[in-house]
Amino acid sequence: MPTAKFLFPAKFTWGTATSSHQVEGNNQNNNWTRWEQQPGNILENASATPGPDWWNGGRWREDLTRAADAGQTAHRFSIEWSRIQPTPDSWDESAIEFYREMMRGMIQRGLKPMVTLHHFTDPLWFTDAGGWLNPKAPDFFRRYAEKVVPALKELTNEWITINEPNVYTYNGYITGAFPPGKKFALRSAVTCLRHMIQAHAAAYEIIHQNQPDAAVSIASNYMDFLSKTSAASDRWTTTFFDRAFNRSFLDVLMHGHFGFGPMRLNVKEARGTFDFVGLNYYTGQQVQFSTDLSKAMSFPAGASLSDTGFLANEPDSFANALRYASSYGKPVIVTENGVENDEDTFRREYIGDQIYQLWRAVSSGLPILGYYHWSLVDNFEWERGWTQRFGLWRLDIATGKREKRPSVDFYAAICKKNALDAEDLKTYAPVVFERIFRD
Ligand code: BGC
Repeated sequence: MPTAKFLFPAKFTWGTATSSHQVEGNNQNNNWTRWEQQPGNILENASATPGPDWWNGGRWREDLTRAADAGQTAHRFSIEWSRIQPTPDSWDESAIEFYREMMRGMIQRGLKPMVTLHHFTDPLWFTDAGGWLNPKAPDFFRRYAEKVVPALKELTNEWITINEPNVYTYNGYITGAFPPGKKFALRSAVTCLRHMIQAHAAAYEIIHQNQPDAAVSIASNYMDFLSKTSAASDRWTTTFFDRAFNRSFLDVLMHGHFGFGPMRLNVKEARGTFDFVGLNYYTGQQVQFSTDLSKAMSFPAGASLSDTGFLANEPDSFANALRYASSYGKPVIVTENGVENDEDTFRREYIGDQIYQLWRAVSSGLPILGYYHWSLVDNFEWERGWTQRFGLWRLDIATGKREKRPSVDFYAAICKKNALDAEDLKTYAPVVFERIFRD
């Protein structure tokens, strides 16, 4: 049997990622809770409560202990704006203290905290004031950052201001799958993006004022779009999707402006406001021209699909994602990567394939500093509710019981050895082992 260890650089970060609304349960005061209460918005009309129960049940303690025991050295999580600022004029100090305690708990366990200030959820007062379409939205976000950054800065120096502004905007204003549920509201989508860029730039400035050595970015979702045919219309559509979805936000952070086809964004003050690229990568898609969005994107014939057909295992697309992220000339951190699979064979293959690509990218000299698997434990999957299971640990949503999936041990071996070891590949993902060592 071939023996090989695909080694990562010393100090490479291995972690998992979660977000407040998806693991806390009992959020009463944000746009998602309201959205969940309206029948038809979430598959099976599911609710995020109690879920992994990190808030009322304090079960972050046991989940993070498991993460640390499994060799992880970092955890990316988000703080819930609606808990910290329940009304425009009030701050809940006990909510801030909750997050401080959780961050101290991470540090005690040997997990470096990475904080996300905004992960899809908005306080209800913010939503009712027009949400991200309100020209005051960036100022509201600035005030929130002014409050929380000084309170958390002694416990971290890694910050994500906004998680996936592209997904928030696309789902909120194009497909309607996320609140506010608007469809093909193109002008609103661009306004939402512009205000998020302004909010990010404001938060970037505040974080650096408080902490000059901070590393700040957004987590950008990269979808690898590949033209289905060589027809000009398909190729143009593919380029448009790539520019608009993958590049618009980061291009503005890089250059202060973005323009492609009808889409224009100009936010000069945002230029240079990122210290690394936070990359969330899940899948690639083929694109063809169609006025029906559901027909415009599809997985390649024969692609290996996750449980509900939501994602395909396309390792070459991950390689493209890593090249794209590195093209901005800053260090890259993979802030999310994972797959939905309850039974877990597919997840192990997915992990084997993606970590191998990650190793190739790092070895070719791309400046990649770390990797956060999505996710630590099954959590609330937005409009897909509990039908998709992304956790290394399985969650029984009726009882709250956690159960270790085999991927835990596979990922632990990678974290502990700081390497993808051929022996572990053979044990946990024999199909991938065969693929890599076939020749
Ligand atoms: C989001 C996560 C989500 C994951 C899997 C990402 O786009 O940031 O919140 O759970 O995808 O669907």
